[in-house]
Amino acid sequence: IGAVRRPSVIWLPFQECTGCTESITRSHSPTIEGLIFEAISLDYQETLMAAAGHRAEAARDAAIRDNFGKYLLVVDGSVPLGAEGAYSCIGGRSNVDILREAAKGAAAIICVGTCSSYGGIPHANPNPTGAVAVSDVIKDKPIVNIPGCPPIPVVMTGVLAHYIAFGSLPELDAKNRPKAFFGETIHDRCYRRPFYDQGKFAKTFDDEGARKGWCLFELGCKGPVTHNACATVKWNGGTSWPVESGHGCLGCSEPDFWDAGSFYKA
Ligand code: SF4
Ligand code: F3S
Repeated sequence: IGAVRRPSVIWLPFQECTGCTESITRSHSPTIEGLIFEAISLDYQETLMAAAGHRAEAARDAAIRDNFGKYLLVVDGSVPLGAEGAYSCIGGRSNVDILREAAKGAAAIICVGTCSSYGGIPHANPNPTGAVAVSDVIKDKPIVNIPGCPPIPVVMTGVLAHYIAFGSLPELDAKNRPKAFFGETIHDRCYRRPFYDQGKFAKTFDDEGARKGWCLFELGCKGPVTHNACATVKWNGGTSWPVESGHGCLGCSEPDFWDAGSFYKA
């Protein structure tokens, strides 16, 4: 009996901080190790792969050639279009050139992080590199956006696991986000919500209201307009999340969050 080939996954990093890769390595269920060793063939991932330089480029070319039409393309980071893409290059080729080539043979594209989903921090005013989202460049492929700066680890691995288990993409909302994780706002499921409803708000980060765990809305919490699963899935294996550790949501999973007054503006 021949070995069953695991689905090929090619992960392209563009204008990013590697936070999304850092985040996915913390996934606890499924773990990234479990996915790599049992479920997927992670054929190109610059941070995690053993190969470097020309060997890494050759591995990506081979994965595209051998799995054409079938591989999942994961992208983190925005795509700079300014100066003909010269602001961010890998192996002497621009991000946009590599993206267009790799997208041709992809069954679907999974954008992890706010940068590949919406442009993210590189897209923030004045956007010196002309950074755009993957969906601004690729128009003819199914795209799943998993925004977050970074995204929740198990949300990324959960979407990959769904694709492997069911052979299809999860149900998406109007912004191409998986409804299972982005269908509600932080505010909808926040454990401080009863204080919001009672009008009990912390006014400073160290006043009596803050010590009593009251709502952080008047300290600028963007939970009411932010779609993400932090309030239910949490971070670090379900340990905690920003609001639970005393800071309001910055809206990191929404478009233009960097420019939208998230930092200490009500
Ligand atoms: Fe809503 Fe933020 Fe208050 Fe929680 S802390 S109830 S998310 S405004
Ligand atoms: Fe981001 Fe808000 Fe969650 S800042 S990590 S979406 S609580």
